[in-house]
Amino acid sequence: MATSTTAFEVPSTQAALLVASPAQPFTLSSTHPVPTLSNPNDILIRIEATAINPVDWKVQQYGLAGAEWPAIMGSDCAGVVVKVAEGVERVKVGDRVLHQGQYVNRGATFQQYTIANANLVAKIPSSLSFSQAATIPVALSAAAFGLYGPRVPKGGAALLPPWHVSESGKPVRKAYKGKPIVVLGGASSVGQYVIQLARLSGFAPILTTVSPHNIPLVTSLGATHPIPRSTPLSELPSVLTSLTSSPLEVVYDAVSAQETQLAGWELLSEGSEGTLVLVLPACDALKQKLAEEEKKGGKRRVISTYATVHGPVNREVGEEMYGVLAGLLERGDIKPNEVEEVPGGLAGIYEACERMKKGLVSGRKLVVRPQETTTE
Ligand SMILES: NC(=O)c1ccc[n+]([C@@H]2O[C@H](COP(=O)([O-])OP(=O)(O)OC[C@H]3O[C@@H](n4cnc5c(N)ncnc54)[C@H](OP(=O)(O)O)[C@@H]3O)[C@@H](O)[C@H]2O)c1
Repeated sequence: MATSTTAFEVPSTQAALLVASPAQPFTLSSTHPVPTLSNPNDILIRIEATAINPVDWKVQQYGLAGAEWPAIMGSDCAGVVVKVAEGVERVKVGDRVLHQGQYVNRGATFQQYTIANANLVAKIPSSLSFSQAATIPVALSAAAFGLYGPRVPKGGAALLPPWHVSESGKPVRKAYKGKPIVVLGGASSVGQYVIQLARLSGFAPILTTVSPHNIPLVTSLGATHPIPRSTPLSELPSVLTSLTSSPLEVVYDAVSAQETQLAGWELLSEGSEGTLVLVLPACDALKQKLAEEEKKGGKRRVISTYATVHGPVNREVGEEMYGVLAGLLERGDIKPNEVEEVPGGLAGIYEACERMKKGLVSGRKLVVRPQETTTE
């Protein structure tokens, strides 16, 4: 495929972190081929920062349908465009961009170079570092698709996004002004973006559960009522009714453990049309409640969202979001997660995944810099 002239030297091989098959350890290769452009919208990115998500250790441990093995994990990317396919105009060589990678080796991010679709990247404003930018793609997708994705399996609550433009041509920024929302796990990476999008959509009050040390963080992002996560979840309905008489239409459960799923469901009052958004599959006890709801002809719903911009379900919302994301970041409407850079380049990912697996990451995102990898 013809490519634009590049000012960057692109090697033919690179460092990449491979997993031979599910449950096998990460191994570092210094001679993995740099992926090549093969589709009309392809661009090649030199990855300057990639963030660690829970899905990375889960796929390494348990595998993923459709993954190629040996597999490269990782799907948060911030870097520099070093090659573009002929005809790509949306970005050019030298641009700083962020995007969500995918679980196919040419598009994964635990390597030094990756292929992206030019229509699904956003330019990084100069106010953000590569490491800050790398905290955004996956968790923002989970937040945005859970709220604004279509009402279908793996979609979302089908709310109007804050970047939606009405027929009269005006942006609908505060479509849910004065309506309450509950975000369970507001300090998680996903929860932080849910709170920010809820603020942009006009929701108020924004209740969220967090560890006390993360209260200033979630408040700075827009949570109006941070509640210590040690508070019994059974108390949340009375906390909510003490704050507002407006019906609760959306609960976003960014934790999605059995107890938060059930508590989220109980928050949606019987007879309402509220949606509980999960980031994991519904547990059996919740499935049982859903079956009872359907039998009664109730309209409460549960959606397990799926944070990929690459599949058909959330593609339209995703493309719209990537179209406006640079502006949202530039204006500070969306702020990145707090960053902790893990040293060692790609080799730092072993330790980072272990910390995440043990629940030792709080209110921040672990980020590695693939170009700092030493392979000697
Ligand atoms: N469906 C998808 O496509 C998708 C996409 C992305 C993520 N996910 C899933 O979403 C979950 C969150 O991912 P993440 O990247 O946001 O994780 P994360 O940033 O590592 O989440 C850690 C945070 O979760 C909070 N937390 C944990 N249990 C809690 C509880 N019972 N109550 C309140 N807060 C609690 C903790 O907050 P405190 O420190 O304040 O206690 C902690 O800071 C993971 O299970 C992940 O696999 C799914």
